[in-house]
Amino acid sequence: MALVSMNQMLFKAVRGLYAVGQFNLNSFEFTQAILQAAEAEKAPVILGLNEAYLPYMGGLSTIAAIVKELIEHYGTTVPVALHLDHGSTFEVCRKAIDSGFTSVMIDGFHHSLDYNIEQTKRVVEYAHARGASVEAGLGRTVGREDDINVDEAKAMYALTEECIRMARETNIDALAPALGSVHGPYGGEPRIAFERMNEIRKITGLPLALHGGSGLPDDIIQKAIILGTAKINVSTDNQLVFTAKVREHLKANKEDYDPRRYLSPARDALQQGVQAKMRQFGSSGKAK
Ligand code: 13P
Repeated sequence: MALVSMNQMLFKAVRGLYAVGQFNLNSFEFTQAILQAAEAEKAPVILGLNEAYLPYMGGLSTIAAIVKELIEHYGTTVPVALHLDHGSTFEVCRKAIDSGFTSVMIDGFHHSLDYNIEQTKRVVEYAHARGASVEAGLGRTVGREDDINVDEAKAMYALTEECIRMARETNIDALAPALGSVHGPYGGEPRIAFERMNEIRKITGLPLALHGGSGLPDDIIQKAIILGTAKINVSTDNQLVFTAKVREHLKANKEDYDPRRYLSPARDALQQGVQAKMRQFGSSGKAK
């Protein structure tokens, strides 16, 4: 099946009360494992490529070509969207779409709201004219690189009024409001601003994207889905599973040097981990 846009997937997910997983491509083996997991679970899937990973992964058109070739190679039948995660400029979003990405996130958290909205509008016009979808971020999802306390983090949560303006003025397909989830491991108990999530979803009517989906317990995942979260991003949990397996293998097999010997079990473990997430998000069996 050819790559598809993300908006149809999310529309169905909102109606069906489940979330589609965005699993980030952190290496070639991740791409293989995630595609295989989606097929095994008969689940729609979003392959996310964070802009920050471009230098490592080898450029937008390289990734798009690899993904398309692998889909062909595996005879993938489930819907797959290829999504630029945390695109920082109109230019990188434009390049992603021109390279064959079917979806982009424009993340203008470091700009003023007016600039962010203007930039998002340009991305939406460009993307929609080419059949691609757009997710916009508001507020700031903090992460392992941020040394800040809880009150400072709260000050970076998305504001309902700003979400309303973004939704009304830009025609985006999905909204990622920062509401307490974090990128990377959680330092303490995750605290999500569910009331605001509910309010934002109800007023904007948009499918919501939950960044920082790793390390969240089942009750938080299920509550977020009930409140309109149709997309959950996972990167860290997959990195942990993959790296633990590499470590375990090399500890027990100190002489091994062929990467296939330690990457194959890691890839298999990753596939199992992604399948478990798909079941948790309720997207298993939803590929139609
Ligand atoms: P995690 O670090 O929680 O996996 O979040 C990934 C993410 O939100 C990518 O945008």
